Amino acid sequence: MKQLFPFLFLLLVACSPGGKQTADYKDLNGNGQMDVYEDPNASLDDRAADVVSRLSLDQKVDLVVGLGMNIPGMTESKKPEKVKGAAGNIMDFPELGIPSVVLADGPAGLRIEPTRDSTSGKTYYCTAFPIESAISSSWDLELARKVGEAMGSEVKEYGVDVLLGPALNIHRNPLGGRNFEYYSEDPLLSGKMAAHMVNGVESNGVGTSIKHFVANNNETNRMMMNVTASQRALREIYLRGFEIAVKESQPWTVMSSYNKLNGTYTSQNPELLTTILRDEWGFEGLVMTDWFAGDNAAEQMRAGNDLIMPGMPHQKGQIKAALADGSLDIKYVDENAKRIIKLAFQSSSIKGYDYSDQPDLKANAQVARQAASEGIVLLKNNEALPLDPEKVNIAAYGIGSYQFIAGGTGSGDVNEAYTVSLVEGLKNTSFKVHETILAKYEEYIAEEKAKRPEIKSIFEYQPPLDEMPVSDAELSIGVKENDLALITLGRNSGEFRDRTEDGDFYLTTTELQMIDKVSKAYHAAGKKVVMVLNIGNVVETASWRDKVDAIVLAWQGGQEAGNALVDVLTGQVNPSGKLPTTFPIVYDDILSSKNFPGEEIPGAEEIKMGAFSMGTPSQIKYEEGIYVGYRYFDSFGVETAFPFGFGLSYTTFDYGDVELSSESFDGTLTATVEVINSGNTAGKEVVQLYVSAPGESMDKPAKELRDFAKTKLLKPGESATLNFTLTARDLASFDTERSAWVTEAGQYEVKVAASVAEVKSSATFKVPAEIIVEKVHNVLAPDQEIVEVTNK
Ligand code: BGC
Repeated sequence: MKQLFPFLFLLLVACSPGGKQTADYKDLNGNGQMDVYEDPNASLDDRAADVVSRLSLDQKVDLVVGLGMNIPGMTESKKPEKVKGAAGNIMDFPELGIPSVVLADGPAGLRIEPTRDSTSGKTYYCTAFPIESAISSSWDLELARKVGEAMGSEVKEYGVDVLLGPALNIHRNPLGGRNFEYYSEDPLLSGKMAAHMVNGVESNGVGTSIKHFVANNNETNRMMMNVTASQRALREIYLRGFEIAVKESQPWTVMSSYNKLNGTYTSQNPELLTTILRDEWGFEGLVMTDWFAGDNAAEQMRAGNDLIMPGMPHQKGQIKAALADGSLDIKYVDENAKRIIKLAFQSSSIKGYDYSDQPDLKANAQVARQAASEGIVLLKNNEALPLDPEKVNIAAYGIGSYQFIAGGTGSGDVNEAYTVSLVEGLKNTSFKVHETILAKYEEYIAEEKAKRPEIKSIFEYQPPLDEMPVSDAELSIGVKENDLALITLGRNSGEFRDRTEDGDFYLTTTELQMIDKVSKAYHAAGKKVVMVLNIGNVVETASWRDKVDAIVLAWQGGQEAGNALVDVLTGQVNPSGKLPTTFPIVYDDILSSKNFPGEEIPGAEEIKMGAFSMGTPSQIKYEEGIYVGYRYFDSFGVETAFPFGFGLSYTTFDYGDVELSSESFDGTLTATVEVINSGNTAGKEVVQLYVSAPGESMDKPAKELRDFAKTKLLKPGESATLNFTLTARDLASFDTERSAWVTEAGQYEVKVAASVAEVKSSATFKVPAEIIVEKVHNVLAPDQEIVEVTNK
């Protein structure tokens, strides 16, 4: 019904060459015979090569440059959209039966337009799952896979072929505007999460695009930014997560990033896209640009950036000119085109999948709720939680309590049918929420919203509403008629801009006054105050955390956020999330605060495309080297507000002694530890395995996360035995001089920990002699001198 192409879905019985019979054969071009590219028994390579051999030069160029995008004043798409609101489409060749492949965002759920035709009343809502920072806080890889499976089912049922996610840039700095779309400051956690998400989505027979490859760690001038970073920092921190994801999930596609890296746009860099990604890591899929990235389409082709998105006419001109003057060999375009055709062969579109436009949104909402509750991190609990809905009357303060934020803005946003707010979640669970205070907030929110112009495009920025000052009236009635105060602090951010220090990382004066006044009033009456953080990334907590009794980091938990949070507040779900990113005491404690978000190059002028600003040429040096996140705080003894890997539970866990399979490393080593639930409530524990290396022949952080595991739900008194396996590569660091991953000789310490700051048990082993684990290419050298921080 919905196929865009006149496929003749002939079941071939006798007319295949060589008499082969197969049920999968489709006569895509309708010529009544099985051509090589139609032969399901031929290799994907041969089939794609056959298609490419049938294309004219113009058609090849049409294929490698996407179909465009409708942005008035900037670019126009030539074709009607198959799926409204999808981010991009690839050229189709109906005469060959090759359909247009559809690409749509994004990391927290499928992003398409929720309505198409105002008369039909039909909707195309997608599930807003929790943001990636919330998913990674669960440290539960099976959960990431499950979320991926659910998300992928919507991709498939809405007729989309490739989901533009997951994203896995590193949380280099808390002000990064898109950190919510990314998993962690640690590459192992990021890479593992991404691999499981990819495997989950792709189990539906649709593709993913892991992005943004690589070092797109801020939004300011993101298209004009040159990142200078050392080879070691790139290999160990920024590339490592992508390497894990590629090797463990072989995603259908990779999206290169906007920025330049060491002087070259990532989308134009063969060292990155061919030498590292394909030759070293064995990536088999295609690479696409980020939307409008780079400045030279011919170089993108040569670099192995197969597909240019969303595609603009002048890019075709650049490719044709380069082919004509001999500066670009056609073999590159043929190879790029071949990879795109391979993607088309993998797609549901070519299989003529009869998508329903009716994914199981109810079932997926339950997955979203479970994932949101598993990702919640309990940061503080002074006997305030859990709550009994029958006994506790609640006064909810903060506009965030009523306007819960499901996820961030920009392409990482999802068009969901609803978002359950905290207050709705409380009411759904039979809590009594103070109605007078509720009415006051709702009135304030409506008034403030009415004052604002409506947002018309995702490029427009809507600053958050100012917090409502808490009046004495709301305080006195609240304290009198309730047992507990809940305060929600909300933060939102997204594409195109980074967060600010004032009023975003740091709380506003009104917010601080609210915390202060509410806490004083409730404590004076012997009542507790619980703080909820509905945020996409790190905020300052140290100055106010002592004033409240509990702090619940709910993140932006997707459309079921309010229900999921109440599951945790009541103890229906015992919190088991742990921080994927450090919460510092003050912003300046973060090493990258000295060089974030980079500087405009003196004298450089803003570059425009039509009416749109592409930014001003800028430069940033990653002078902190590998000392990102906990690697810095832990190695340099800098105190944090809440350390990496930290999170509380309503129960307690005891750890046994870690046992190693050997005291001498001979290629692999197993560490085993027993964890027992020593409290009164069933719960799960995230166990982290860090390794401290000798750090004699190499500069090493004090310790690094090398593995992790999460127990199943343990009943009180129940224990679990967890095994961790370490290979030489897990112990290795990147030696720039030798362009190799090297495991230095000497004494190592394995540390089993509840967080980076809470080692429960440790054991030592020796690596008798240095191991050169893997030699790689000497590529991506810095384009200018960079002096890095070291721990020597
Ligand atoms: C974003 C990508 C996104 C693309 C398509 C870009 O602005 O950086 O993450 O996939 O748009 O919407």
